Amino acid sequence: MNGNDSSRNIIIVGFMGTGKSTVSRLLSERLGWESKDTDEEIERLAGQSIKQLFSEDGEESFRDLESRVLKEVLSRGRQVVATGGGAVLRESNRRTMLSGGWVIALTADKESLIRRVTSAAAAGMRPLLAGDAEERVGTLLETRRHAYDFAHVIVDTTLRSPSEVTDLLLRWVNR
Ligand code: S3P
Repeated sequence: MNGNDSSRNIIIVGFMGTGKSTVSRLLSERLGWESKDTDEEIERLAGQSIKQLFSEDGEESFRDLESRVLKEVLSRGRQVVATGGGAVLRESNRRTMLSGGWVIALTADKESLIRRVTSAAAAGMRPLLAGDAEERVGTLLETRRHAYDFAHVIVDTTLRSPSEVTDLLLRWVNR
C-alpha cells in the first residue's frame, strides 16, 4: 500500500473459523485504525442475534442487512473490517469491498476449520452449521470453493497464529 491508500480500509474475508475477527482486531490495534465487524453491526442494527435473525426472518433477510451494513461501513475509511463468511456471495458486495479498500482473504484447511468452529466457545453460534457441523463445513466449503478468490491477498492461517498472520499482513501493508 502506498501513501495515497491510507484513507482506505482493510477488509477481511474468509470462511467461518479462519480467524477474521481476531486478526482484524489485532491489525486495527497495530495500525491505530478503527476496528469494525459487520456481524456485530448487523446485530446492533437489528437488535437481534444472528441466530435469531436467521431463525425468525430467514437467511435472505440477513443477507440484505449484511449488504446494507457493508455499504454503510465502507463509506468511511481507515478501518479494519471483519466480514461474515458469506458476505462475499453477492457480486454487489464484492464490488463494494473492492472499491472500499484492500481485501484480504484468510483460508485454512478443512480439518482446522472444523476444529475451530466446533471448539467449546464457538459451538452453536453459527446457524449455517447447525446439526452436523463437520458435514456442513464440508458442503459449504465445496459450494464456496472459489468465493474468496477475488481478494487482493490470500493468507493461509492453517499453521499460523492470529498474531503471526497480523505480522505478515503488516509487512504487506507497509511495503
Ligand atoms: C456466515 C458466517 C458468519 C455469519 C453468519 C453467516 C456465512 O460469520 O455472518 O452466520 O454465511 O458463512 P463468521 O464467518 O464470522 O462466522
